[in-house]
Amino acid sequence: MAATAIADNVWAIGVTDSELRVFDIIMETKTGTTYNSYLVRGEKAALIDGSKLEFQDEWFANIEKVMPLTEIEYLIVNHTEPDHSGSYPELLRRHPKIKIICAAPAVPFVNNVINTEADITGVKDNHELDLGGKKFIFKATPYMHWPDTMMEYLVEDKILFSCDGFAAHIGTGELYDDELSDKIDMDWEVKYYYDCIMRPFSGYIRRNLPKLDEFDIKMVAGSHGPIQRKEPRRYINQYQEWVAEKYDQDVAVVYASNYGNTGAMAKIIDSELQKAGVSTAMVDMTALDEARGRDVIERSRAVAIGTPTFNGDAVKPVWDFIGLFASVYSIGKKAAVFGSYGWGGEGIKLVADRLSGMKLKVYENQLRTRLVASETENADTKAFAAGFGEFVASGKK
Ligand SMILES: Cc1cc2nc3c(=O)[nH]c(=O)nc-3n(C[C@H](O)[C@H](O)[C@H](O)COP(=O)(O)O)c2cc1C
Ligand SMILES: [Fe+2]
Ligand SMILES: [Fe+2]
Repeated sequence: MAATAIADNVWAIGVTDSELRVFDIIMETKTGTTYNSYLVRGEKAALIDGSKLEFQDEWFANIEKVMPLTEIEYLIVNHTEPDHSGSYPELLRRHPKIKIICAAPAVPFVNNVINTEADITGVKDNHELDLGGKKFIFKATPYMHWPDTMMEYLVEDKILFSCDGFAAHIGTGELYDDELSDKIDMDWEVKYYYDCIMRPFSGYIRRNLPKLDEFDIKMVAGSHGPIQRKEPRRYINQYQEWVAEKYDQDVAVVYASNYGNTGAMAKIIDSELQKAGVSTAMVDMTALDEARGRDVIERSRAVAIGTPTFNGDAVKPVWDFIGLFASVYSIGKKAAVFGSYGWGGEGIKLVADRLSGMKLKVYENQLRTRLVASETENADTKAFAAGFGEFVASGKK
């Protein structure tokens, strides 16, 4: 990419990485991506975001096409992930006096990236920066994508600089969404980006999006993929749907069972919860793919996880399922653990510890029954279900 004017005295100065095939380890990038960056000039000038380290020479060259780097007053840091901040150490070396504006929680992150003395201001919601004829209003948007993330609105040109928000990894080089070829399905790309990058934070994003309501937006200029001007609020509206709460049951009873013993416990727990008025779904983990597993977690206020112990551990489908908690918003979700065992029964505690470590609220009682459950053990299972039902009901919204 070059330095291209997108409004009066506003330039896109980002770079294209068409070779990238995997982003953040988890996400496929078939056409690569772009690391978008912008330069806004009023009486003073401000840079918005940077580039990945490998592309910094091109990024500096794009800046110089507009104006000498050292005449730029501000660097607006929306997010310090290295795909945007890789060029900052060199920027500070070339222009140590540049004033950095970032969200308040980003201040230590910026320090840890540049590792040098600098003039850094952490700002809060509605902070304004007037360049003289170009005014920004800032909004903190934590967890879109990191705790440091913010966006800003350029009042005169009605541009929302949204960083990773509403972005897509499209590396075919078009500047605007209405220039894309039919081969690129932008809707799909934005959703895929959301699923991979933003979905774990849906609860935070739900709280952030209303901050954008007050802006009359003509363009959404994010940090990856084309600028959105065709229907500027299209993906903000889509995000609103995607991050909405999806609860349609109180508890998913999710279990794996080889000989049916853990499965029998799951059935008792499920029917006892229902008798107590708790809505449930029973899910066999061994028949669950990742997409359905994520849906199960998002749709349930709480999850009861059943695992037998094999070889001193919980079984693999259980660990695979638990791995999905980090890929959706599950902080504070309630959970319980139960299972059948033969001698040590270690799997149940290992699962409970992992869930606690992932910041779920884990019911303090863990239930184990030995091999084929006796009548007494079945009564314990019923009592466990009743206790967990109360735990789920407590503090329910
Ligand atoms: C391959 C295998 C390994 C096992 N390893 C353990 C173990 O390490 N600790 C233990 O407490 N039970 C162990 N067991 C016993 C099972 O936990 C027990 O049979 C349990 O009731 C199975 O539950 P399920 O019917 O839900 O599959 C093992 C069973 C199998 C088949
Ligand atoms: Fe990011
Ligand atoms: Fe990014």
